[in-house]
Amino acid sequence: MAAKERQRLDKLLAHMGLGTRKEIKKLIKEKRVQVNGRPAGDPGLHVLPGRDYIEVNGEPLEYRQYVYLMLNKPQGVLSATEDRFAKVVVDLLPPQYRAFHPFPVGRLDKDAGGLLLLTNDGKLAHQLLSPKKHVPKTYYAVVCGMVTEIDVEAFRQGVILDDGYRTMPAELKILRQGLESEVELTIYEGKYHQVKRMFAAVGKKVTYLKRIAMGPLVLDEQLKPGEYRELTAEEIGKLQGINPPTLPPDLFSAKI
Ligand code: URA
Repeated sequence: MAAKERQRLDKLLAHMGLGTRKEIKKLIKEKRVQVNGRPAGDPGLHVLPGRDYIEVNGEPLEYRQYVYLMLNKPQGVLSATEDRFAKVVVDLLPPQYRAFHPFPVGRLDKDAGGLLLLTNDGKLAHQLLSPKKHVPKTYYAVVCGMVTEIDVEAFRQGVILDDGYRTMPAELKILRQGLESEVELTIYEGKYHQVKRMFAAVGKKVTYLKRIAMGPLVLDEQLKPGEYRELTAEEIGKLQGINPPTLPPDLFSAKI
């Protein structure tokens, strides 16, 4: 993709994660950066990314504006870009991705794990997080207590949270029933601590929580906690295709 505006060569290369401005100046001085087939002599040279042909150490520079990463967030790490004390999800990325200034799309609690999208595409993030879009989010949870069909029906109708808010209809699937139960829950909104508070509303406690899907994006099972990968072109296309609310009609018609 070509950018609209010219920018300084050293700034562009730093943005692409090729090093600090100082390191890049050195690369340029050593004639290891070529622009349109000629060594660039000036770090302040203005280039049009995507139009000017740039090579670094003989390798063509693949210009892009955005990164889209799927992270399997480990428990114990904050869904944030920075924090004075705690480790944050962006710390799990190498410099070449951090250079794009990605941020997490939505939050997972510190003690929750699973699918977290990291991107610097604000428009896409806004689409995914917009309360009007009702993008579904599916969680796997271990719950202390016997989850029953009564809970399934309660969640389908919507439950009252501790602040008096009535949740939208949600789909609860029981995977294992016992004194401790395993479930999958799909919600179409994103209130603070929503899953934990929904179970609290029916007198149960979530002891383990992992997000496994968000809209069309499904957590890649190959990713171990702490691992990430770039989204495929197909996954990005699907995410960008989110337009109308994705709530299934039968749930939509349930009493809210
Ligand atoms: N619901 C929660 O309770 N916690 C999360 O991290 C996400 C949804």
